[in-house]
Amino acid sequence: MPKLAVLGYPVSHSRSPAMHNAALAELALAEEWSYEAIEVAPDAFEASVRTMSGEGFAGANVTVPHKGAALALADELSETAREVGAANTLVFAGDGEEGSEGIAIRAENTDAEGFVRSLPASPRGARALVLGAGGAARAVVWALLREGAEVAVWNRTQLRSRHLCEELGGTAVAEPEQEAYELIVNTTAVGMAGEDPFAELPLSRQRFGPSQTVVDMVYGSEPTALLAAAGAAGAATVEGIEMLVQQGGLSLELWTGRPAPLETMRAAARG
Ligand code: ATR
Repeated sequence: MPKLAVLGYPVSHSRSPAMHNAALAELALAEEWSYEAIEVAPDAFEASVRTMSGEGFAGANVTVPHKGAALALADELSETAREVGAANTLVFAGDGEEGSEGIAIRAENTDAEGFVRSLPASPRGARALVLGAGGAARAVVWALLREGAEVAVWNRTQLRSRHLCEELGGTAVAEPEQEAYELIVNTTAVGMAGEDPFAELPLSRQRFGPSQTVVDMVYGSEPTALLAAAGAAGAATVEGIEMLVQQGGLSLELWTGRPAPLETMRAAARG
């Protein structure tokens, strides 16, 4: 009975269990496989992962604030996880016997490729503005640069955006000119607790246009205030739930080896 889980702190808001359990049912794996949310405090993270790998878990998703710790404890890293500097997926590859001996922990990052797949078109050659400099921003900046976009990064705390660009590439900007970007990606937490994005971010609701694509990683059941304004101005919009679905689909394929039923996952993630 392989088990799967998402580890976070907090984690109760996560749509991943609903999304993955629906996918497992669609793949006729629900009799064998299960996916749950497990709240793990940072100081218990490493011990919990090591215990899980010997307790029948096949893998896990890892979310805030554990993406760096997941990378640090792994025995093997995918190239993307190493380069992004964060892992959102762990795969426990063992001999099938209970007990942690012989089980290698592999760290992967499906956020980067999941982000690219959530876009309506290739970002090659696009001027892109990434808002934020946390773990989500790292995956987005890395992916955009690899795809051949020109990347500017704005963050409330400028030191963090400068560090991110020194490490990954791209240009840190203090006062971005909104009209100059074909792609704008909000990776900050702004909007999650109902904040006004136009008060907290260097964006104006009047300055979106039809040649832009705007991605908001904040997700809920409604379009966010940011996406509502962008959409009203004719911009293409991508909801954060789409990246959740795409990264989840890639993780599910790593664990099960089966193609992910994305439509089912999308419907379940929306709830
Ligand atoms: P994650 O891994 O999800 O990206 P994080 O590392 O906590 O999480 O990063 C959160 C991001 O949201 C940061 O870029 C943060 O800006 P700071 O580096 O200045 O803290 C940004 N953020 C959170 N609240 C914000 C606000 N009210 N206005 C602007 N940016 C905000």
